[in-house]
Amino acid sequence: MIRFVFCVAALALITSAGTARADNAPATSAMAAEGGLQSSNGETVYHTVCQACHMENAKGAVGAGHIPALAGNANLAASGYPLTIVLHGQKGMPPIGDYLTDVQVAAVINFVRSHFGNAYTDELSPADVKAAR
Ligand code: HEC
Repeated sequence: MIRFVFCVAALALITSAGTARADNAPATSAMAAEGGLQSSNGETVYHTVCQACHMENAKGAVGAGHIPALAGNANLAASGYPLTIVLHGQKGMPPIGDYLTDVQVAAVINFVRSHFGNAYTDELSPADVKAAR
């Protein structure tokens, strides 16, 4: 009988652990939408997320590593290039798009491509971001 009770308890534990994990997964992927950054404003996303590495003026930094300037950067001419890097990362740049919504990724890339001395006016849409994920 004791063994039976133990088994039921263990089973309940396993089941609840499984449930917790299942509940957790969508919560993590929806972090940006729910617990994390709320704003869909590209400027706000830049200053909240990208600035930490690329600096407030987007001029990048050289220190322990090299962080390229986004200011006046001809690599931003084609929107697909920053889109791929933000979504998938590259070397020291983490795939930060995993934590942002499609709207936030489009907004921050449109912001960077049209500020800091960049004047690329064609815009990415959230649908473009979704398709590239
Ligand atoms: C944790 C630091 C970090 C954060 C946060 C970060 N980046 Fe980067 N980023 C880097 C590094 C390091 C590189 C250089 C990667 C390499 O060596 O190829 C880079 C490269 C880039 C490039 C390519 C530049 C080029 O000329 O090749 C773009 C575009 C870019 N980041 C955009 C962004 C945007 C937009 C954000 C915010 C959504 C962001 N980054 C957030 C570190 C960061």
